[in-house]
Amino acid sequence: MKTLFCLSIFCITCILPAFSQCLADQKSLLLGLRNSLRFDLSYSTKLVHWNHTKDCCNWDGVECDVFGHIISLQLDQEMISGGIENSEYLFNLSYLEKLNLASNKFNKIQIPKGISNLENLTHLNLSCAGFAGQVPHEVLRLKKLVSLDLSSVDRSHLFTRFLFQLYLENPNLKMLVQSLKELKELYLDAVAISAQGNDWCHAVSSSSPDLRILSLRSCNLSGPIDSSLLELRSLSVLQLDNNNLASEVPYFLANFSGLTTLSLASCSLFGSLPEKIFEIPSLQYLDLSVNFALSGSFPPFLREGSLSTIVLTDTNFSGPLPDSISNLTRLSRLELSNCGFFGLIPPTIGNLTELAMLDISDNNFTGSIPLFHLSKRQRHEGASGNSLTGSLSSLEFLDVSSNNLEGPVPKFFSELGQLRILYLSSNKFNGTVQLEMFKNPYLEVLDLSHNDLFIQSTDSDSSLPMLPNVISLILASCKLQRFPSLHRQSRLFELDLSSTQLKGEIPNWIWEIGNGSLGHLNLSNNLLHGFQKPYKFPSLYVLDLHSNQLLGELPIPPLSTSYVDYSYNYFTNSVPNDIGHFLSNAHHFFASNNNLTGEIPPSICSATALYVLDLSANALTGSIPPCLPKNISHLGVLSLGGNNLSGTIPDTFSVNCNLQTLDLNKNVLTGKIPRSLVNCPSLELLNIGNNRIEDTFPCMLMKTSLRVLILRSNKLYGDLQCLEAIQEWLNLQIIDISTNNFSGVKGIFLSKCSDYNHERPGDGTDEDINHLHVHRFLKQ
Ligand SMILES: *[C@@H]1O[C@H](CO)[C@@H](O)[C@H](O)[C@H]1NC(C)=O
Ligand SMILES: *[C@@H]1O[C@H](CO)[C@@H](O)[C@H](O)[C@H]1NC(C)=O
Ligand SMILES: *[C@@H]1O[C@H](CO)[C@@H](O)[C@H](O)[C@H]1NC(C)=O
Ligand SMILES: *[C@@H]1O[C@H](CO)[C@@H](O)[C@H](O)[C@H]1NC(C)=O
Ligand SMILES: *[C@@H]1O[C@H](CO)[C@@H](O)[C@H](O)[C@H]1NC(C)=O
Ligand SMILES: *[C@@H]1O[C@H](CO)[C@@H](O)[C@H](O)[C@H]1NC(C)=O
Ligand SMILES: *[C@@H]1O[C@H](CO)[C@@H](O)[C@H](O)[C@H]1NC(C)=O
Ligand SMILES: *[C@@H]1O[C@H](CO)[C@@H](O)[C@H](O)[C@H]1NC(C)=O
Ligand SMILES: *[C@@H]1O[C@H](CO)[C@@H](O)[C@H](O)[C@H]1NC(C)=O
Ligand SMILES: *[C@@H]1O[C@H](CO)[C@@H](O)[C@H](O)[C@H]1NC(C)=O
Ligand SMILES: *[C@@H]1O[C@H](CO)[C@@H](O)[C@H](O)[C@H]1NC(C)=O
Ligand SMILES: *[C@@H]1O[C@H](CO)[C@@H](O)[C@H](O)[C@H]1NC(C)=O
Repeated sequence: MKTLFCLSIFCITCILPAFSQCLADQKSLLLGLRNSLRFDLSYSTKLVHWNHTKDCCNWDGVECDVFGHIISLQLDQEMISGGIENSEYLFNLSYLEKLNLASNKFNKIQIPKGISNLENLTHLNLSCAGFAGQVPHEVLRLKKLVSLDLSSVDRSHLFTRFLFQLYLENPNLKMLVQSLKELKELYLDAVAISAQGNDWCHAVSSSSPDLRILSLRSCNLSGPIDSSLLELRSLSVLQLDNNNLASEVPYFLANFSGLTTLSLASCSLFGSLPEKIFEIPSLQYLDLSVNFALSGSFPPFLREGSLSTIVLTDTNFSGPLPDSISNLTRLSRLELSNCGFFGLIPPTIGNLTELAMLDISDNNFTGSIPLFHLSKRQRHEGASGNSLTGSLSSLEFLDVSSNNLEGPVPKFFSELGQLRILYLSSNKFNGTVQLEMFKNPYLEVLDLSHNDLFIQSTDSDSSLPMLPNVISLILASCKLQRFPSLHRQSRLFELDLSSTQLKGEIPNWIWEIGNGSLGHLNLSNNLLHGFQKPYKFPSLYVLDLHSNQLLGELPIPPLSTSYVDYSYNYFTNSVPNDIGHFLSNAHHFFASNNNLTGEIPPSICSATALYVLDLSANALTGSIPPCLPKNISHLGVLSLGGNNLSGTIPDTFSVNCNLQTLDLNKNVLTGKIPRSLVNCPSLELLNIGNNRIEDTFPCMLMKTSLRVLILRSNKLYGDLQCLEAIQEWLNLQIIDISTNNFSGVKGIFLSKCSDYNHERPGDGTDEDINHLHVHRFLKQ
């Protein structure tokens, strides 16, 4: 009898779906809905394929019950931008149990009130859909809701600045959870929850005893976490990242016996983390990163743990990494960057076969990289050319940079078949590295910079690239002495060979790497003296050639560049006339400390994106093009000192002037200090010393951001009355007015300044004033 009963149930559920055909009224509602929605046809993957000639129960994103009622509608990521506000079509689908409108583009409309018609909803997902404003009372009528997701930012944007779009004020969180008694999953990330203190804890714990998932990231919550939360006995996921909890991590969190995820990143936590937290038997995911005052250390891990992710980046955790870390056999992600860990890297890490990401950068680990254990079998397979399957075989990302590690770079790196990213920079590794060693098939980033390494590579005519997949190769301050054979690299984008003792010519093949894949080249701080000809720059973004011995005319940079540094070379001749046209995308252009002559070409004014322009310490003549301050409104740093520029300083600083530094020191400029400098509210450094400026003291710069004002060795005259109101010069720290013709208001000025450091204390005569260097360090 019993068997028969079960059998018949089985048959109903297994056979009926085959006959479930969408009912006519349901179909017409769906068609009506599709026709009324505004969505992007080119982006949609579901709605576009709804075909009225077919059974609507088989349409993408649609699910029916056995009777042909629509019970699930998954319309996430369809670029829907409108058409649901008063949609009778949607809100008449009264059998709906699951509705997903996540990741759409609704234009900051309120969650439609009609939603309350969908009384049978158990799952509602409106995350990142573009809804805004107060969450309406109507949502509270959805009494059967088990899962509610109203998160309005995705994880990757949680920590960037955002404005709250959705609010839970009235109704508030308490009213929400009191109404929705069945809730098991609640996601309200980036919804502004107004609650006093930690009322949110009481609200949730007293009303939603069955809650399994509670995600309240970036909700403007305050702390501390209250122990009433323990009443949520089924709690498995607790995510409170990016709230100002400003408290310690309470001991009782370790009492959650079923917790799998605990994420409290960026919560202003302090104090010491209870070690017990690491011992929660079910815990898989622990993220406490970006809590700079949170201390703690690892306990010994005594049993096979469940932890697979530990993120402690940017905390005050310290101590050693225990050998017993290998007992966390499921560990796949360990991120400990920028903490206070020290000691040796435990060799047992090599036992972590699941480990995919290991980041221990910016700590104080010492010793050498251990020869991670490889079993005999694995060694054998490795030797015979088969890929390793065992220890560390999952490792994709390894960052040990900025520690105190020493010794040779171990050879076994080449055997990590999944390795994509390897940072070994800023340690004390020494010895010789054969570059070909890194033949790992997936390796994209290799950074060996700032160690004591000698890099070798064999010159080969092989048609195969030496580093098959590398996109970024950073060898700064390694000893290189000659260019490695990178002819065949097909994906190389970033190449940093700075400070590597390279000499001779820059080989012309370098510009052809990967048929123009190169975008970022740094050859600075070498002994390079020229360009092998013929050569043609590819579409570079960054070209850094500073501090070499490059001769000849300044090369015209490619139009694509945003950063060009030619400074500290031996470039001669005049600046190419049309250079500005090629700098139209550049924000930094340095050509200082060369032997450039001639005038600054007016074409420079077409470089309207420039933020830094540095042509100082050359032999430039002529005047400063008036269009320069006028056209380049982004300009923050203009440095033309140490040339032979003449004429007046253009009085053309425009109203939206962004200048912070203006250095015209050591030229032969005449005329007045431009009055339009008052248009530059951010100006912090003004150096017009060692010129022939004839003017009075620039009182108009009072109440600006000026910190450093150098006027020395000009023909300035008049009194310094306005400087007497020294408190009006809010930020001024250094002023040098020496060697001018100022007539002091004898005594008064010096006595006013006597609180500050005078380089040369005097008795208050005019002469003394004209030798005055006042250094104020009031605000440090
Ligand atoms: C709908 O399906 C029919 C039959 O398979 C097909 O002929 C028709 O082109 C489809 N229409 C659309 C808009 O895809
Ligand atoms: C939706 O339901 C209401 C009430 O049952 C009905 O009056 C209305 O016509 C329906 N709208 C559509 C588009 O079916
Ligand atoms: C909810 O679903 C039940 C069947 O599960 C159905 O009888 C009821 O009519 C539905 N509610 C509404 C408002 O349609
Ligand atoms: C809601 O939908 C989004 C986008 O499809 C998805 O990433 C998210 O996990 C869903 N939320 C829930 C609770 O399933
Ligand atoms: C965040 O909460 C504080 C009180 O804790 C409140 O003053 C402030 O207005 C809230 N901010 C937003 C954007 O809701
Ligand atoms: C947590 O559990 C311990 C025993 O494991 C118990 O002594 C303590 O009272 C519990 N804390 C709370 C707040 O329930
Ligand atoms: C960081 O931890 C050290 C001990 O390792 C402690 O002396 C120091 O006070 C902690 N700093 C903060 C800000 O908590
Ligand atoms: C792993 O845990 C066991 C006890 O369960 C312990 O004896 C062993 O020392 C631990 N492993 C390491 C490497 O500490
Ligand atoms: C881990 O690796 C070490 C050697 O590095 C080895 O002695 C040990 O047996 C391995 N196994 C465990 C469980 O730690
Ligand atoms: C790092 O460790 C070394 C050796 O143990 C020690 O001399 C040094 O002071 C430590 N540095 C920091 C920043 O803690
Ligand atoms: C590397 O440095 C260590 C000291 O840290 C030194 O003993 C060793 O000789 C050096 N090796 C090479 C190849 O320079
Ligand atoms: C650059 O100019 C300086 C000073 O005029 C001179 O000493 C030097 O030889 C010149 N260098 C080159 C490469 O022209």
